[in-house]
Amino acid sequence: MSEICLIVDFGSQYTQLIARKLRELHVKSEVVTPKISLSEIETRKPLGLILSGGPSSVSDENAPHLSFSLEDLRIPVLGICYGMQWMVENLGGKVGGGEKREYGVEKIQIEGGRLFTEAGELSVLMSHGDHAAKIPDTFKITARSKKGVIAAIEHKERQLYGLQFHPEVHHTQNGNDILRKFLVACRFHFDWKEKNIFEEMKQHFVAQVGEGRILCALSGGVDSAVVAVLLNKIFPGQVDCICVDTGLLRKNEIQDLAKLFADKFHFPIQIIDSSEEFLSALKGIKDPEAKRKTIGRLFIEIFERESKKLKNIQFLAQGTLYPDVIESISFHGGPSAVIKSHHNVGGLPERLPFKLVEPLRDLFKDEARRLGEFLGLPHEFVWRHPFPGPGLAIRVMGDVTAERLRLLREADARLQEVLRESGWHEKLWQSFCVYLPVQSVGVMGDQRTYEDMIAVRCVHSEDGMTAHIAALPTPILEKISARIINEVRGINRVVYDISSKPPATIEWE
Ligand code: XMP
Repeated sequence: MSEICLIVDFGSQYTQLIARKLRELHVKSEVVTPKISLSEIETRKPLGLILSGGPSSVSDENAPHLSFSLEDLRIPVLGICYGMQWMVENLGGKVGGGEKREYGVEKIQIEGGRLFTEAGELSVLMSHGDHAAKIPDTFKITARSKKGVIAAIEHKERQLYGLQFHPEVHHTQNGNDILRKFLVACRFHFDWKEKNIFEEMKQHFVAQVGEGRILCALSGGVDSAVVAVLLNKIFPGQVDCICVDTGLLRKNEIQDLAKLFADKFHFPIQIIDSSEEFLSALKGIKDPEAKRKTIGRLFIEIFERESKKLKNIQFLAQGTLYPDVIESISFHGGPSAVIKSHHNVGGLPERLPFKLVEPLRDLFKDEARRLGEFLGLPHEFVWRHPFPGPGLAIRVMGDVTAERLRLLREADARLQEVLRESGWHEKLWQSFCVYLPVQSVGVMGDQRTYEDMIAVRCVHSEDGMTAHIAALPTPILEKISARIINEVRGINRVVYDISSKPPATIEWE
C-alpha cells in the first residue's frame, strides 16, 4: 500500500491546490469528505491528515465538521484556515469572528515553531473572517499577523499544526517549505512520481473500461494527445483516435501529430478534413462570440456524425483538466460573467451515448505535461504554449478566409522559429500572431506597397488569469518583424501588442 495523506475538504476553493502541491512534493494524497469516520481513516492508514479551508464559520448550524475528536487520531494533522479554526474548537479552544478580517497578502511575524525555518517576517495569503480567539492549553502560538491575529499554532508535544493562512497558494512565501516540513513530520518518503500516477490511473481505468472500446478525440493540442498516448498504453488495440481537422490549427500541426503518433507510438489517427465546412460556416461572421459558437456547434455536429460510423464504442475519452472542472462549477453559487465562451469538446457527452473517461481530471496543466513527457511525448510538443479551442479563427480579426488563415499561419511559424532559436519560447506563457485586416503603406525595393498587418502578442502569466506583456529585446523584435515582412508576401507591417491582462485579454477575440 502506498503512503498517502488524506485531505478533508471543508469546501475551500484551494482544496485541489493542496493536493497538487503535495504531488509536486512527490506525496500521494486523496481528497475526502468531512463525513469520513475515524474507523475509515484508520483503515486507510494515512501518514497525515490535512484539514482544508472553507467558507463557513465553525459556529454555523450546518458548518462541516469531522465526527470525532482529533485527540483520538494518532497521526500528524495540519489545519488550514477554517481547518485550523475547527481544530481549535475541537480541542477545547475558542474561535472569534468578525472584527479582524484579513483578505489578501499580509505580513506575519514568525515567533518560532517546527514548520518554519526561522523567526522573522513572512508574506502570506490570508482569506478569513473568523480566527482563533483562544487556543487549547496544549498548543502554543508560533506566528501572528500585523493585526494581532493568531496566524499559526502548534501542539506542544504532538504533531498537530494550525495555519490561519494558505501555504498552498503561490502568493504565500515559503509555502512549499512549510508543507514539506509538515510532510517530513508525517514521515513521508517523497517518492510519489509520474510513474506511480500512471500506475494508479491504469488500475482505476482497467476496472472502469475492461474490454470496452474507447473513442479518443484529438484536438491537436497537448491534453488530448496525452490522453491518447496514456489510453493506448493501457488499452492497446482498444482505442480509436479521431481528429476533426477544422483547418484552424497552426502550420503542420495535425500532420506532425499524426506522424509522431504513427512513428513513435505506432497507432494511427483518423483525420477528418473538415476545413471547407468550417470555412463556409464562418463565412461573413465577424463577431467573436458568434465565431466561437459556430465553431463549437459545428465541431460537435461533425464529431457526432463521424463517431456514429465507428462500431461498438462504449467510452469517450476527453482531456478535461482540473481547472476545466472548476471553471464549470461556480464556487460562489452564482453564474460568473461570461467574458468569452470557452470551447473545448464541451457539450459532447450529453449528446453521445458514451460513458466518459477523463484521466486528467484531477491534474493541473503542468502535471498533465509532465505525465505526457513521462509517457514519451517529446519535450517541445508537451511544453507548447496554450492554444484556444476555436484556433486561428479568433486570431483573424474580422472575416475568416482561407487566404487570411494562410498569412497568419505563415507569420506565426516565423514568430515561433525566432522565439525558439533565441531561447525566448520557454520563458513565455504564450506567443502568437494576430492577423489585422488593416492596410498600411510601405516601401519594398522601390515599390510602394499597401498591405495587411500582423500583431505579435507575447505574455508572461502564471495561469492565464492575469498576464504581463513580455519585454522582448529590440533585436529579437526586429528579427521577428524582418522575417515576417520578408517571407510572408501580403504583410508589410508588424506591430507589438503592449497590453497586459487585465484590462486586455490574452487572445484578441
Ligand atoms: P483570455 O483570452 O481569456 O485567455 O485572456 C486566457 C487563456 O485561455 C486561452 N483560451 C482558450 N482556451 N478554449 C481554450 O481551450 C478557448 O475557447 C479559449 N479562449 C482562450 C487563451 O489562449 C489563454 O491562454
